[in-house]
Amino acid sequence: MNSARDMRKTIHLIAAARPNFMKIAPLWHALKKEDWADARIIHTGQHYDINMSDAFFKDFKLPEPHLHLGVGSGTHAEQTGRVMISYEKILIQERPDLVVVVGDVNSTMAATVAASKLGFPVAHLEAGLRSFDRTMPEEINRVVTDSLADILWTPSPDGDANLLREGVLRQKIVRVGNIMIDSLEMLRPIIEKERVFRKYDLTTGKFGVVTLHRPSNVDTMDALKMICKALVNASTKLPLVFPVHPRTMKNLSANGLMSFMNQAPDFKPIEPLSYIPFMNLVLNSSMVITDSGGLQGETTYLGIPCITLRQNTEWPITIEQGTNRLCRPEELEASLQRVIEGDFCKGRIPELWDAKTAFRISESIHAFLNS
Ligand code: UD1
Repeated sequence: MNSARDMRKTIHLIAAARPNFMKIAPLWHALKKEDWADARIIHTGQHYDINMSDAFFKDFKLPEPHLHLGVGSGTHAEQTGRVMISYEKILIQERPDLVVVVGDVNSTMAATVAASKLGFPVAHLEAGLRSFDRTMPEEINRVVTDSLADILWTPSPDGDANLLREGVLRQKIVRVGNIMIDSLEMLRPIIEKERVFRKYDLTTGKFGVVTLHRPSNVDTMDALKMICKALVNASTKLPLVFPVHPRTMKNLSANGLMSFMNQAPDFKPIEPLSYIPFMNLVLNSSMVITDSGGLQGETTYLGIPCITLRQNTEWPITIEQGTNRLCRPEELEASLQRVIEGDFCKGRIPELWDAKTAFRISESIHAFLNS
């Protein structure tokens, strides 16, 4: 007779890039407790620097990835193609019962296409988000992934509505909430104990955190220059700390903008940080200036004002219910001044952003595998 262990279902958790690692962590820990689940982390290798990858595994107490595809960087087609070619081999060997993909990076879409074509069911965590801007590579990844996935876990009602409008069957959609809140609450006691902000001579509640990596902001010289100028000017009103993403660092250095930023006394470009020190900065900051998707949700949850340097967002709920505000670079100084004067929406926490999302996903997987 087979033991319960032999009968366990193989679930692949596809992790590729920095924001993915934090999203699979609560789910991996939830599934580890279940005797019916054998969750295996497949790292595609899209992000590979220590600060972009290994440090996140350490912070979230994740095991070494069960398999590492080592695809690295490249053009969109190169990166996507390499993930598909490598992951197809793993699918054939391992024959998983379910493939879980998260977010909207190239590896998310690549793993989905490879699995769907071989007939393996795919579940997408953070389904239904739309910026309606097809110039963003992430939007293409979202649309393709959602059109193929068998289970679509959404974080908010707008996600459900977008999917229904695109013809996704209602029974495939499960609203589970925002997994990033689980990630944050999981490590919050440790994050709160840190004093990272002191290392950068910052005072609680008296500085802003900046992150930038979107191609639309950092890949063209004109946009990047305008943003840097606006940030340096803004830092005269409020000290700013800026953990610089590798993509942004490459472009800042190539365009001679690093030396310009280093001259500003209250503007502090630093190395990218892992989750715990980074969130310690966010928790102690008085505002965040970003183009990241995840930070728009985290700041809404924490009630910290967020200025998003983009013309659109796939997280509209953070504007409707939270603390987020979209802004063009030329408006940055004025926006920042308004926040300093206390003029920002205090917001509320959206429904199901309650740190129980991983539990709801685990239940949804169990129901799907037993249906
Ligand atoms: C990717 C995702 C984006 C996500 C972001 C989080 C896509 C299309 N984009 O963007 O949605 O918000 O991750 O960071 O999937 N690099 C390093 N070290 C690394 C990783 C990258 O130096 O560990 C460099 C690469 O050389 C590359 C650049 O950074 O030139 C961009 O990396 P890539 O993974 O292609 O895209 P991101 O900009 O990180």
